[in-house]
Amino acid sequence: MSDILTSPVLTAPLLEVASLSAGYGRSQVLFDMSFSVPAKGAVAVLGRNGAGKTTLLKTLAGEIRPMSGAIRLDGRDVTADPPERRARGGIGHVPQEHGIFARMTVRENLLLGGGGAPSKGDIDEMLDFFPKLGARLSQTAATLSGGERKMLAISRALLGRPRVLMLDEPTEGVWIGVIEEIAERLIELSGRMAVILVEQHIELALRVADTAYVIDRGTIALSGPSAQVRDDPDLLRYLAP
Ligand SMILES: Nc1ncnc2c1ncn2[C@@H]1O[C@H](COP(=O)(O)OP(=O)(O)OP(=O)(O)O)[C@@H](O)[C@H]1O
Ligand SMILES: [Mg+2]
Repeated sequence: MSDILTSPVLTAPLLEVASLSAGYGRSQVLFDMSFSVPAKGAVAVLGRNGAGKTTLLKTLAGEIRPMSGAIRLDGRDVTADPPERRARGGIGHVPQEHGIFARMTVRENLLLGGGGAPSKGDIDEMLDFFPKLGARLSQTAATLSGGERKMLAISRALLGRPRVLMLDEPTEGVWIGVIEEIAERLIELSGRMAVILVEQHIELALRVADTAYVIDRGTIALSGPSAQVRDDPDLLRYLAP
């Protein structure tokens, strides 16, 4: 293999999480988590309700200050950076809730995407990516279907040109007939950037992602290539309510 392909510059992870602990006030939710995310491809984060998935993404986005541990983006320590700075640095977040402004139109939501003032070309690119949104530009976001809301929230995050896109349950509340469309878009995105995918649809998550982490009570209980995690006899135990 050539030196270029094995160069550490190209193989170093984009996002590194080291011994991360976090929670709310004195209530600790994440315990000593360590993992890394490569610059391309999707990483699935699975776990039952309350396991700490949303807390993890919020901590990576900078909304929750960690109790201890470090977060590095492309080798730079971003642990103390506020959310806006992390977003500018390339951490995109599609939250589980409130990813859109419900009272504004789809067009206004897009114009406020990615930290402000996206170009017409960037918005057109989003409308090509999610054609369903094009027909809804003048509607308020509150009138969208569950799937269209998720598409809008993903578009808003993409307008910030993230290097790592974190999605918290992008198929939650989405009609089954539209879930596959979202899955296909996520597969496309993971060929272009790093994707961290929190999902309740285990089969979908393991199909989209190359690597999976299963969280149990705030620790990483199981991890590995998606195919290996899918076949792990302990998987269902960690996901069972
Ligand atoms: N704002 C908060 N204040 C205090 N505790 C919280 C807060 N948000 C979440 N928690 C607690 O943190 C734990 C982890 O919650 P989190 O939302 O991260 O789980 P999750 O894995 O995303 O669950 P779900 O699958 O239901 O979305 C839970 O025990 C939850 O009750
Ligand atoms: Mg959650």
